[in-house]
Amino acid sequence: MTKGNFPIEKLKGIETPFYYYNMDLLRKTLKTVKGETKKYGFHEHYAVKANANRRILEIVASEGFGVDCVSGNEIKAAVNAGFPASKIVFAGVGKTDKEINLALDLNIFCFNVESLPELEVINELANKKGKIAQVALRINPNIDAHTHEYITTGLNENKFGFSISALQDVLERLKTLKGIKLSGIHFHVGSQIEDLSVFSQLCDKVNELQDYFEAQDIKLEHINVGGGLGIDYNNPEDNLIPDFEKYFALFHSSLKLREGQVVHFELGRAMVAQSGALITRTTYVKEGEEKTFVIVDGGMTDLIRPALYQAYHKIENISSDLPLKKYDIVGPICESSDVFAKDYELNETKRGDILVIYSAGAYGEIMASQYNCRELPKAYYSDKI
Ligand code: LLP
Repeated sequence: MTKGNFPIEKLKGIETPFYYYNMDLLRKTLKTVKGETKKYGFHEHYAVKANANRRILEIVASEGFGVDCVSGNEIKAAVNAGFPASKIVFAGVGKTDKEINLALDLNIFCFNVESLPELEVINELANKKGKIAQVALRINPNIDAHTHEYITTGLNENKFGFSISALQDVLERLKTLKGIKLSGIHFHVGSQIEDLSVFSQLCDKVNELQDYFEAQDIKLEHINVGGGLGIDYNNPEDNLIPDFEKYFALFHSSLKLREGQVVHFELGRAMVAQSGALITRTTYVKEGEEKTFVIVDGGMTDLIRPALYQAYHKIENISSDLPLKKYDIVGPICESSDVFAKDYELNETKRGDILVIYSAGAYGEIMASQYNCRELPKAYYSDKI
């Protein structure tokens, strides 16, 4: 989406703040992923956590993708939007009995299991139902994703997955768990990864582990390499669709697969981020001692990424063509961290001007809260406005 692409007259009439989704771009992005994964027979499970907006889920489902869910409610949302249970993977370090039972009842494709106690509970609940749960062991490959520490997941210090040193014991234990079928191994090293060499390192680790499993006479049907492909927050207009061609080709050329093995992915952000923007309106322009503040009606309750991860999102004033001026762009929430950007150049801004905060289609609407008794942001779509 670029400045010229917004139907400004229509947007002006809508109560702000709200999310605006470019459905053409979303469809184009999904088709690109579809085309690239098809080349190699890869399976993509969209990570629902990035955006569980009903319309978006329905479109992703209609393109034939699977889903990656991390809660019972995500599983329900996915099924309601049309994803078949046979394409659901269920991850998370703290799956409750209720959530496991739901997944067992639906016969989902696979549990991505993160610990031995979890494996024991899935086994017990599956036995009670006379079922066999298909699982992948999430292995922590101890790879540094070189991304923000809050979204780094593949280091030994993180809470996720089994360490490689624990595997031997787990495999021993698995032999006695009759309610479990080991189908694959699963990895996810972090999110917003821009340095593709991180994924090459992951492939090297997978190859090593494949040798290890083979030596134990264990056949793995699938390898799930998680998600994490980053997007361009700095210049979204130049990179509206991430370089999926390069990303999937890397896995194709680096992984040494065994006969019949299928590779699964769990991309979230890269599928949806550039298709969404947060639209907000300037409530006041306030001259401070040292700074000029643009106070907008959207806040960290609508888009928490800048406050939580010091994340950069490109912002534009689509109502103004006046010369650039420097501002701190802040929300109305009673928290000092409620800042979208500091010392940021916008076209000179006046009360009522509409600001677009780009690249907000992932981890935006879904992370909204009602803190300060605010309303949750609404969503509008380019094809229905
Ligand atoms: N698979 C697993 C096991 C994950 O934990 C995640 C994301 C994904 C897949 C999808 O990753 P993606 O392709 O979207 O990078 N709220 C943060 C991001 C948290 C990511 C959590 N896990 C943010 O706004 O940057």
